Amino acid sequence: MELPVGSDYVHFEARVKRLMTENRPVRPEPGRHNLDPHLDRYAARTAGMTASEIRALFAVASRPEVVSLAGGMPNLAALPLDTLSAQVGELIAEDGLVALQYGSAHGVPALREQICEIMALEGIKAHPDDVVVTVGSQMGLDMVTRLFCDPGDVIIAEGPSYVGALGSFAAYQADVVHVAMDDHGLVPEGLRAALAETRKAGRLVKFLYTIPNFHNPGGVTLAVERRAEIVEICRENDILIVEDNPYGLLGFSGQTYPALRSIDPDNVVYLGSFSKTFASGLRVGWVLAPHAVREKLVLAAESATLCPPTLNQLIVSRYLSTHDWMGQIKTFRENYRERRDAILSALEQHMPAGCSWTKPDGGFYVWMTVPEGVDTKAMLPRAVTARVAYASGTGFYADGFGSRQLRLSYCYPTPERIREGVRRLAAVLESEMDLARTFGNASPRSISGPQNPSPDTV
Ligand SMILES: Cc1ncc(COP(=O)(O)O)c(C=O)c1O
Repeated sequence: MELPVGSDYVHFEARVKRLMTENRPVRPEPGRHNLDPHLDRYAARTAGMTASEIRALFAVASRPEVVSLAGGMPNLAALPLDTLSAQVGELIAEDGLVALQYGSAHGVPALREQICEIMALEGIKAHPDDVVVTVGSQMGLDMVTRLFCDPGDVIIAEGPSYVGALGSFAAYQADVVHVAMDDHGLVPEGLRAALAETRKAGRLVKFLYTIPNFHNPGGVTLAVERRAEIVEICRENDILIVEDNPYGLLGFSGQTYPALRSIDPDNVVYLGSFSKTFASGLRVGWVLAPHAVREKLVLAAESATLCPPTLNQLIVSRYLSTHDWMGQIKTFRENYRERRDAILSALEQHMPAGCSWTKPDGGFYVWMTVPEGVDTKAMLPRAVTARVAYASGTGFYADGFGSRQLRLSYCYPTPERIREGVRRLAAVLESEMDLARTFGNASPRSISGPQNPSPDTV
């Protein structure tokens, strides 16, 4: 393994450690005062707000010599930037007074129609009136939680789950109960058991939050045979489903799966996004709500942002109507498939015995489990020192689980860098396993709660 030498190494390691310890919750532990003079003023709900551990490391992890397998940033290199810049210019020249003006909280009507055509690819029949455009699907998550959850309500979610969702749930003081996944996604028996247990404990379950396709961070997809069953379980138990589907069109063979929303339009809130299929920086996503919920959703959106950015919506709309966007998604898929192949073959070649990982057939992520005795959060500074970064598992659970898990994102680096990153990570793991064999657990079990999303953890 390539390691930096001399004082550079010592300095680098010290910096990594310092950054890790700077990652503190907003509220200090009782009796401890930090430098924030507003501490006593924060609302109780801020107690659950902690920065992502990778965010703390970002300054170091984003140095060019570090291979980052941590962040889920889409790889935009294949976008036709010249065409897009000409289109944006035309848009402002032809329609600038509309594009640069406030719009409705509901979203631009033409875009809502186009969104319905996109959702039809996954079997959804929707009316444009029931679509609410949001500032990324992250805003949709926040609004849905705001609409449905009081403090102490329970949300059922896959374990592990998306960091940004856990952050929103924590901000509204909802409690998350995780249900296990296997290689075929959420396990229906696990869902039944979790619902029965929470009910027995007298807790109110508000919804199931699920990412059925190319899961973040799990990398697995919900089997088609399980979909109707999960919808049925939620119906029987009178709970809503929040279906989050930003990766659904990124199946490596071009395959798509029937949305849960297509099975039960009255009981599923569907979240979609252009972040992974077009441009994440435009921040355009949407919520397709059951008709009865739509009005409240528009009101919630209005109070959050007045309206989503008109210019960005019109850019997306023009792109969809003038560009071969399906062809563009195919190009993205091919790029991601090449990177998926690179990471899977490198893992196979380098990882020590006792490690296992998922094998995604779409999306951005591999979820890995390491042998007993290795703590992935404690190992992270050592990995970054060895010039490779990943997202440790505990951030993807609301309950402190995940210390033997980590997420590897293959979407952004080149295949060559991915192979090098995996080689470095395998060497770090080997030495952690050696330590664990010699001294027992290499490091104490880390507990951390939900984190706020950041561009490096999405
Ligand atoms: C599962 C999931 N949901 C939602 C989001 C948020 O996406 P957006 O950029 O649309 O806000 C992400 C981003 O990575 C994600 O992975």
